[in-house]
Amino acid sequence: MEKLLYIHIPFCDSKCNYCAFNSYTNLNHLKKDYFYAIEKQFLNDIKKYNIKKFETIFIGGGTPSTMPISFYEKLFKLIEPYIKNIKEITIESNPNASYEWLKEIKNLGVNRISFGVQSFNDKKLKFLNRNHSSSQAIKTIENAKKANFKNINLDLIYATALDNKNLLENDLKIAFSLPINHISAYSLMIEENTKWEKDYSKRKEDEELEIWFIEEIKKRFNQYEISNFGKPCIHNLGYWKHKEYLGIGAGAVGFIKNFRYYTQNNVYEYIKNPIKYEYEYLNNNDLKKEKVFLGLRSIIGFDENILNNEEKKRVDILIKDKKLIRKKEKIYSYDFLIADALSAYILE
Ligand SMILES: C[S@@+](CC[C@H](N)C(=O)[O-])C[C@H]1O[C@@H](n2cnc3c(N)ncnc32)[C@H](O)[C@@H]1O
Ligand code: SF4
Repeated sequence: MEKLLYIHIPFCDSKCNYCAFNSYTNLNHLKKDYFYAIEKQFLNDIKKYNIKKFETIFIGGGTPSTMPISFYEKLFKLIEPYIKNIKEITIESNPNASYEWLKEIKNLGVNRISFGVQSFNDKKLKFLNRNHSSSQAIKTIENAKKANFKNINLDLIYATALDNKNLLENDLKIAFSLPINHISAYSLMIEENTKWEKDYSKRKEDEELEIWFIEEIKKRFNQYEISNFGKPCIHNLGYWKHKEYLGIGAGAVGFIKNFRYYTQNNVYEYIKNPIKYEYEYLNNNDLKKEKVFLGLRSIIGFDENILNNEEKKRVDILIKDKKLIRKKEKIYSYDFLIADALSAYILE
């Protein structure tokens, strides 16, 4: 079966207050060496898993748009033999990428772009410590369209201390006036190892506002996963269907044959040895848990036959309660937002 490819770019221009991703602002001098490390890991993994072709690619970060086009020219030369007739290549970008960069990345074969906009309110952008402005984001998204991108996503963050109906309404008004066909909307998480670690005052606990926001997005774009709306990203659907994927780059994660594998987070160490992995074995019970959880968070659903009889009985109760629906031996949730509670109940 064809596999997916994830490539991690661990560089950013600035560090956002909420962000726990494996990304660094002071390692720009490693960018050249980083390519050679990626090349080494890629060639190793391709051979190890006998890969001939990828179904989709996702270049994420960090901030892939901090890398010069010369990096991607080399990268595409490397992956070219494995991407004939590929369905989708996504790249993440900060909403301050230049028109030239967008045009060139499109010409290399990237056909989906995802901008970390977060908000169109300048005060909120400052609060999050983003290094772009609202007008810059608007211009960059219009430029992506001019550069011929047909699949454009923007990420929004909600449930921050500054949010209210007016602010979020305005964010959506601007978002929907732009040439996008996808929104990822993330409820702010207070993460460890971030500037906002343990500072819950940065979050607004207002369930009603959160539900209202989701419902507003749903008026325009179909919700196909808890945080995702619009024309589905094929790569992400692949993760939720439990397809196998390679994870290339510092701190990338891969999943092949019941094993999840991790490369080294530290960029210096990764460059020294990009083929040092840690493996995590997932037994059938772990896989079942993930299938139920990921399936109920999205339109993917899960196959009822992976459950034992007791679990099937609990599914029947939830179907009677109109929380779940059964279609051709597959189980789907009506409400992705309560997937955690539903899967905990089914699997106890
Ligand atoms: C790797 S970043 C996207 C690309 C690029 N680095 C950028 O931010 O423009 C992935 C997305 O995750 C979301 N995100 C990161 N940390 C988060 C947090 N603590 N809570 C909610 N969303 C978060 C943001 O919306 C961000 O755009
Ligand atoms: S949200 Fe994006 S730009 Fe901000 S620090 Fe994280 S990866 Fe970098």
